[in-house]
Amino acid sequence: MKFFIGFLTAFASTAVNGDYTIYTPEQIHIAIGAKLNSMSVQWAAAHDDSVKIGSTVMWGLSSDNLDSTNEGESAVFVDGGDESYTQTHHVAVMTDLTPSTKYYYKVGDALQGWSDVMHFKSAPATKPISEPLRFGIWGDMGSNNAQILHSVQTEVQEDNFDMILHVGDFAYNMDNDNGRNGDMFMKNIQPMAAHIPYMVDAGNHEVAYDFSHYTERFRNMPANSKEMPTVTSGNGEAPNNWFYSHDFGNVHFVAIDTEIYFNYPDMVAAQEAFVDADLAKVDRTKTPWVIVHGHRPLYCSCDEDCDEAAQTVRDGMEEIFYKHGVDMYICGHEHNYERMYDVYKNETSKTTVNPPATTYVVTGDAGGPEDHETFTRPQPDMAAFRTDAYGYSRMTIYNETHLYWEQVECDTDDHVQDKVIDETWIVVEEHGPFAKKR
Ligand SMILES: *[C@@H]1O[C@H](CO)[C@@H](O)[C@H](O)[C@H]1NC(C)=O
Ligand SMILES: *[C@@H]1O[C@H](CO)[C@@H](O)[C@H](O)[C@H]1NC(C)=O
Ligand SMILES: [Fe+2]
Repeated sequence: MKFFIGFLTAFASTAVNGDYTIYTPEQIHIAIGAKLNSMSVQWAAAHDDSVKIGSTVMWGLSSDNLDSTNEGESAVFVDGGDESYTQTHHVAVMTDLTPSTKYYYKVGDALQGWSDVMHFKSAPATKPISEPLRFGIWGDMGSNNAQILHSVQTEVQEDNFDMILHVGDFAYNMDNDNGRNGDMFMKNIQPMAAHIPYMVDAGNHEVAYDFSHYTERFRNMPANSKEMPTVTSGNGEAPNNWFYSHDFGNVHFVAIDTEIYFNYPDMVAAQEAFVDADLAKVDRTKTPWVIVHGHRPLYCSCDEDCDEAAQTVRDGMEEIFYKHGVDMYICGHEHNYERMYDVYKNETSKTTVNPPATTYVVTGDAGGPEDHETFTRPQPDMAAFRTDAYGYSRMTIYNETHLYWEQVECDTDDHVQDKVIDETWIVVEEHGPFAKKR
């Protein structure tokens, strides 16, 4: 076997090394897999029609014994700009993982080269969780002026997060500079995203070429809509990462694509049917917490964006959230932080203990070239806390009843770094449809 691979390597070298094309994996990021106990990894590499590059992942319990191997799939991604800048994206899945266990892995191709050996912790088993689940959550982060980046990278290095949620708007924009700004962004997040599942939804800044950069660069989201298994972006058909759901420990997450309301009226019904049916199937004895995330708010109070546009998303989703007892909806889009109490039909009971409706949070202020969005309107009753300082959110789920929420400010304009400026417990003793509780 050694001889065989050696022979092929020599052959491949003479065939391709003359043009110095680099096939070494880059932009590596992992995501919760579509199958239970799996982790999906995606990376980019140079594209060359004359060279077949494998999509291989090797993993194991120690860095010097990567004894499991899987072959994935690759897809050619052509940016829609003048240069038709082309790269290959590879996705491979690590399967049959033991929950909450540290694994080592590398990705690449046995002939063309490997990534570093990296590590991750597999997703936890469902309820009862053995230790608190810790999430890093933010939206609206640029390649430039990403004010939280150093702090959240450090949080990952200190092993403070089990999963990351980025609720839309990446890089500003991923398609800029013929797509190279997207590469820059994906490289900036690799120190986090190669180690912690980096889960996403699409924002309005991903609109170029029918959302091709979002659709292609995050192919490894756990697409699970049976009715709409694929979507079509400017790059062609790909797994449906516009709306999907997955479990993580005792939480069921649903990603929605709020941009569908503003760009694809034909898909509105399909998405709403998916969310409604998906939520109806949730077994609250296994995943008591249900959290939906999308890019745009249903409720916010900063400016006129919170009128018609928010109403549009509200008209589509609010009844579904209420009917199934969605505990939280987390979004970005407004470049500020606004934690609402429970809200239903524009009314709040201002409670965080057994709230009678969904709790709403806007956390869209990771930092980017568009700067802050200031609050030009007075604080309404439904808003528990507002700030336009840059920052990110932390969510810790302790058990089936207790969730702890924090906002961390990282803002060079205010000379504040890593300071918790808002914190609250959200306690839900009985999860499920809200109508029953009124
Ligand atoms: C929501 O409630 C606030 C405060 O009670 C009010 O000012 C606003 O007009 C209401 N909006 C809608 C759409 O009903
Ligand atoms: C859940 O966690 C909270 C916070 O640690 C704790 O106060 C509470 O007693 C726990 N509840 C159960 C049922 O373990
Ligand atoms: Fe946005």
